[in-house]
Amino acid sequence: MRTFTKAIRDALAAETGIDASKLVIESPRDSKLGDFAFPCFVLAKTLKKAPPAIAGELEERVNARLDGIAAKATGPYLNFTVDRATLARGVIEEIDAAGDVYGESDEGADKTVVIDLSSPNIAKPMSVGHLRSTVIGAAIQRLHKRLGYRTVGINHIGDWGSQFGKLVAAVDRWGDTVDLDGDPIKSLLALYVRYHEEEANDPELVQAGRDAFKELESGEDGRVRATWRKLTELSLREFDKIYERLGVEFDLVRGEAFYEPFLDATVDRIVAANITEESEGALIVALDEFGDLPPCLLRKTDGTTLYATRDLAAVFHRWDEFKFHRCLYVVGGDQRLHFRQLKHVLTRMQLDWEPRMEHIDFGMLRLPGGKMSTREGRVVFLEDVLDRAAEEAQKIIAAKNPDLDASGEVAEQVGVGAVVFNDLKRERVKDIEFDWDEVLSFEGDTGPYVQYTHARLASIGRKAAAAGEGSGTPDWAALEDAAPILLAIGRYPDVLTAAARAAEPSQVTGFLIAFCREVNSWIAAARVLGQSEGVTGSRLRLVNASKSLIANALGILGLSAPQEM
Ligand code: ARG
Repeated sequence: MRTFTKAIRDALAAETGIDASKLVIESPRDSKLGDFAFPCFVLAKTLKKAPPAIAGELEERVNARLDGIAAKATGPYLNFTVDRATLARGVIEEIDAAGDVYGESDEGADKTVVIDLSSPNIAKPMSVGHLRSTVIGAAIQRLHKRLGYRTVGINHIGDWGSQFGKLVAAVDRWGDTVDLDGDPIKSLLALYVRYHEEEANDPELVQAGRDAFKELESGEDGRVRATWRKLTELSLREFDKIYERLGVEFDLVRGEAFYEPFLDATVDRIVAANITEESEGALIVALDEFGDLPPCLLRKTDGTTLYATRDLAAVFHRWDEFKFHRCLYVVGGDQRLHFRQLKHVLTRMQLDWEPRMEHIDFGMLRLPGGKMSTREGRVVFLEDVLDRAAEEAQKIIAAKNPDLDASGEVAEQVGVGAVVFNDLKRERVKDIEFDWDEVLSFEGDTGPYVQYTHARLASIGRKAAAAGEGSGTPDWAALEDAAPILLAIGRYPDVLTAAARAAEPSQVTGFLIAFCREVNSWIAAARVLGQSEGVTGSRLRLVNASKSLIANALGILGLSAPQEM
């Protein structure tokens, strides 16, 4: 497709004397007008003429320079239509040649993008918010990877803070009443709940918690730290089960504790920028010049640091290590204030890379079952959500396709995929009301619908192979009716670029749903098998190209592409 837009740009450049890189080719408002449009407004100044006159004059001259592409002036636009056979052949040969990495580019060469994702808090069940962060963050990482960026996905585990002193105290007291090794998260949750029930009437417990955190912060590598380390390991092991089911891996797992050794230097660095002040014994950076933003607290009166201090240490560390092009924090919208504060501390330090730090926020996902409260022990376990999704998918598949083997594996792919897709299908800032029927539907804007389309195309391929059809020389003109599909395949690389730029996987899901609709209606109308050699040949090529595109996009989103379902 880029070959077509390039040819158009070159022809326009030759006729106008304007550098081809400055000429923007768009999609026409109405696809009936053509495949591409060039708005002549941009030339009005240089050529000192009205845009419709320019379009009219350019039409013939540009047509003379183009082969297989027709230009037509419509008002201030010059619209272009690619000959259908040329379009079919060009697009399909391009995607076939690129294979699995169709859409890749080198825009990210020599640039590093750091993605802070998932980042659950240890000793608690992973929340739905962390699920969102994981799947959105991983999709954003894959997008950047495809565009040639070096990516570093960092799981910034919440493993530090006064609550870990409390938990160590609780483990010391009641550790043997629970099955820590067998069922760590539920056990830790029980201890956490018990601590909060008893702390009000038990000053000794409170003191033990404080002492434990103090010892942790002191860096002493004794019994307290050993207990804390064990909590971390047990929690990570549980989280890993979910990561495995989601197919997500991290380049670095660096909890907040990792940045402990850098905290003093971080505070010194900020103090040296002359922007700190003492306020009631605490060390703060005032931010009221940024629309009444509350100050950023660096050190509390008792000398301990905060979440923000550790995040500042982390961003300096990341900058020093990676000199990142972007550092994306995939964190819920409830932390908007926190990230604005961090960014404005950097602004006040006059660090010119501040804009590279971006909070990629997202809305809430509400599961049926209502609001969670870790303190009261009312929580939804993600593992249960994924299990249920797989079970429901299993039922649907068994009803639709009773002969399918490996339905267990496929059910897992479809069930988990449905949950992931549901998370990615809306603009990320939107809140989501989770609805089982909607999530698992084979007909709606869902993961199962897309995966099913893929399986349907795979099945046509299998039938063609069994019948020995489809290897003849393609008759590209037989794809005349498939222009919307071909144009969409051609547009895909630009969709990836835009989605990465906006850190918005929903642009890929939206594209994919529309694409599957086009493909399904084409399949319903056009016969692939049993036609003349050339017709079956070209249609089968489109079936395979479409299948490959769907698998490609599903892969970026983190879903499997089943061959059968
Ligand atoms: N652990 C935090 C939470 O659950 C999220 C951390 C996000 N990343 C960061 N660098 N602050 O609220």
